Amino acid sequence: MPRNSMRLSRFYLPLLKETPADAQIVSHRLMLRAGMIRQQGAGIYAWLPLGFRVLKKIEQIVREEQDRAGAIEMLMPTIQQADLWRESGRYDAYGKEMLRITDRGDREMLFGPTNEEMITEIFRAGVRSYKDLPKMLYHIQWKFRDEIRPRFGIMRGREFLMKDTYSFDIDEAAARRSYNKMFVAYLRTFARLGLTSIPMRADTGPIGGDLSHEFIVLADTGESAVFCDKRLIAMKTPSKGTDFDGDLQPVIDQFTSHYAATDEMHDADEFEKGVAQKDQISARGIEVGHIFYFGTKYSEPMKAVVTGSDGKDTPVHMGSYGVGVSRLMGAIIEAFHDDGGCKWPMSVAPYHVGVINLKAGDEACDAACEKIYTELSDAGVDVLYDDTKARAKICSHGSDRIALSSGHRTARCGLWHGGIKISQ
Ligand SMILES: Nc1ncnc2c1ncn2[C@@H]1O[C@H](COP(=O)(O)OP(=O)(O)O)[C@@H](O)[C@H]1O
Ligand SMILES: [Mg+2]
Repeated sequence: MPRNSMRLSRFYLPLLKETPADAQIVSHRLMLRAGMIRQQGAGIYAWLPLGFRVLKKIEQIVREEQDRAGAIEMLMPTIQQADLWRESGRYDAYGKEMLRITDRGDREMLFGPTNEEMITEIFRAGVRSYKDLPKMLYHIQWKFRDEIRPRFGIMRGREFLMKDTYSFDIDEAAARRSYNKMFVAYLRTFARLGLTSIPMRADTGPIGGDLSHEFIVLADTGESAVFCDKRLIAMKTPSKGTDFDGDLQPVIDQFTSHYAATDEMHDADEFEKGVAQKDQISARGIEVGHIFYFGTKYSEPMKAVVTGSDGKDTPVHMGSYGVGVSRLMGAIIEAFHDDGGCKWPMSVAPYHVGVINLKAGDEACDAACEKIYTELSDAGVDVLYDDTKARAKICSHGSDRIALSSGHRTARCGLWHGGIKISQ
């Protein structure tokens, strides 16, 4: 994790005064203005210190919920060999979205848009028996997809951070249990980020298979048209104490008992007949996660087999599960902002407390601020201390609020009453 607390005078926070003309949605505008990201090319962004802090906090929550569900973290490279993708038949099928690279030895390489092939290769090299199953492996790594229309800042980038998990099971019934674990982990992850996510039946697209859900956060600026039953919004998030080795099917049944579909899968007739008029939501949404079960689509051609209890080799049943870690930051800002700027949920706020020295240079004020800054930091609170004379960049008023959460506290050290004033 980045250092917890920071003095503004030593920080790197390049704020923009002007709103960049090409930023069409509020999250993109605020991220640029508040010095969180800087564009380096179409759909390619540098994460500046403030944005990076939030990204790391999101990533950590995603990680914790993966670990809780029993997935194991690892790290695969960004660069992959074309030959691996020839084994699955996807090297040609993937098309122009794949960034293809040739190395100095004229070997064909690519910048990974996803990792099904690589994880299948890793799995088949290490697992022989059904007794080694089930397994869920994940990594959080940068992906590159040469999107035809990168837009909305990091929301649809070309380079973006994804958490991708892969499950390996002996048969379809077992694979569905893994699928259910990820389903619950996703509900918990997005809830911890302050977001209401709705699992919607989804098209399996180029990955193929027959069971898939997209996790959608409703937002006017979302790219997908979605249709769902209002009652899904009030559904209770599965608790921290959920037994991931127990039967999760009842939770999945509950969340899939109401209508919810993206436009590719939408059935207008079923929607009209099955959902009461007052409960019909027809809106736009941001896809923050996507889970698939695709059976033996990769294990068969790539020969990822295990010996079953009958002594025969059988291809493993697989699933893959993606979370758009960098996209989530945009989704969170879309959900939490006002005219004054970002209003972060506490779980991902870059700083929890802002200390503003109203009389920088005044001995008593400086000493009081130092004390508050140090003591709060030592107590594990993330503090941004505005020790500059220009001050008030981090305060809650005006249009430059950048760093704190909606429920943040600002300690204004004026000492004019012989003490400090803490304001929400
Ligand atoms: N171009 C992108 N920029 C940012 N995030 C993305 C992008 N493409 C996909 N993601 C995120 O990664 C998750 C998994 O991707 P996936 O479902 O494989 O992609 P897609 O829906 O584009 O086929 C998506 O749910 C989304 O949150
Ligand atoms: Mg998807």
